Amino acid sequence: MNVVAPHIAESPLPPPVALVRTARAARARTLAVGVIGPGRVGSALLEQLRAAQPRLEREISLVLNLRGVVASRQMWLDSDDPELNARQHRAQTWRPSDLDEFAAHVRGNEGRHALLVDCSASEDVVARYPVWLAAGIHVVTPNKLAGSGSLERWRAIRAAGIDGGAHFRCEATVCAGLPVVQTLRDLIDTGDELIDIEGMFSGTLAWLCNRYDGSRPFSALLREAHALGYTEPDPRADLSGIDVARKLVILAREAGLPLSLADVEVESLVPRVLDELPLDDCMRQLHEFDAPMSARLAEAHAGGGVLRHVGKLDRSGRVSVRLVVLPREHTFAHTRLTDNVVQFRTRRYHDNPLLVQGPGAGPEETAAGVFADLLRVAESLEPRP
Ligand SMILES: NC(=O)c1ccc[n+]([C@@H]2O[C@H](COP(=O)([O-])OP(=O)(O)OC[C@H]3O[C@@H](n4cnc5c(N)ncnc54)[C@H](OP(=O)(O)O)[C@@H]3O)[C@@H](O)[C@H]2O)c1
Repeated sequence: MNVVAPHIAESPLPPPVALVRTARAARARTLAVGVIGPGRVGSALLEQLRAAQPRLEREISLVLNLRGVVASRQMWLDSDDPELNARQHRAQTWRPSDLDEFAAHVRGNEGRHALLVDCSASEDVVARYPVWLAAGIHVVTPNKLAGSGSLERWRAIRAAGIDGGAHFRCEATVCAGLPVVQTLRDLIDTGDELIDIEGMFSGTLAWLCNRYDGSRPFSALLREAHALGYTEPDPRADLSGIDVARKLVILAREAGLPLSLADVEVESLVPRVLDELPLDDCMRQLHEFDAPMSARLAEAHAGGGVLRHVGKLDRSGRVSVRLVVLPREHTFAHTRLTDNVVQFRTRRYHDNPLLVQGPGAGPEETAAGVFADLLRVAESLEPRP
């Protein structure tokens, strides 16, 4: 009589541990990483990379090998000698900054996968993207200067990525860690057609509009937002609307519309008299905002609506950033604190648009957006130990 243990026939035993290890080793990918700009976002990213490493290695066989960190004056490089690294707890050397030397060090000469994360706001760094990408080094960044700078340079960045087989990703340039750029990419890549994108892209202005009900002067709220760190050090950078315009240009280019900052109709909320003043003088004269903002609020109340700072991009390439009056029941009238909200209207999401909403700034959130980009690049790499 044959006795077959049915549970064995129906559910095979797990493969022996040695086989699992071999399969994992075959899938193993190592990505050499260099971080440019260990400021607020860069430091948060370094901490997130350190904390995630054991899980990434265990669960997806991905080793992120931090090869260096560069700030504006100094750079830290690990040693190229694995024995020395092992003996000396990753032998580290400090040198004066040199971006070209830094990139060459991260890339190495052994044909490894290499990625640079630009967490600076520096033109000098962005100017090197085409060279790095053409050399096969992936670039990930929250720095808006590439995506919203000259169209010629942006095209050079894209072309260099194609030539070098390297990825350029910039999710965190628009609303920090919120999945805005990726959502747009996914919509387009899956054959949807964009009608328009509309949203509140400035956490600072969202907070100010939410709080401004006439019970306190606008300047008092602006001072409070500044003290809470919700504004840029110079609050005119937020109120000029340029930062939101940059985000819309980045989205327009992702959507295949070759636009530049000059194409955006931007309404600046900064009174002319404050435009050219040194920061200290401007901070003393914030009351200049009160009369014009009070008039705008009265106009909104008269129509039974609310004031909101809205950026809009449509498929014909019209882009605007302005303060508008919206009905009280509008989605944008119900956001919280410094929330950003982005609404995509497409052929598929026509009557009921697709919404992405949540906090759109902060070093940790931004670093997480950068980290997610880095992981997407890592996922696309062929296994290499
Ligand atoms: N903070 C946010 O919530 C947020 C949100 C979205 C996007 N972003 C973007 O993220 C980037 C970083 O923002 P952050 O707030 O972290 O700025 P940050 O604190 O001012 O840090 C900037 C870092 O860049 C370094 N740096 C400047 N020029 C450099 C150069 N030529 N070479 C190498 N390093 C250089 C600085 O080094 P030194 O200290 O030596 O000068 C510093 O470490 C910016 O592009 C910003 O627009 C930030």
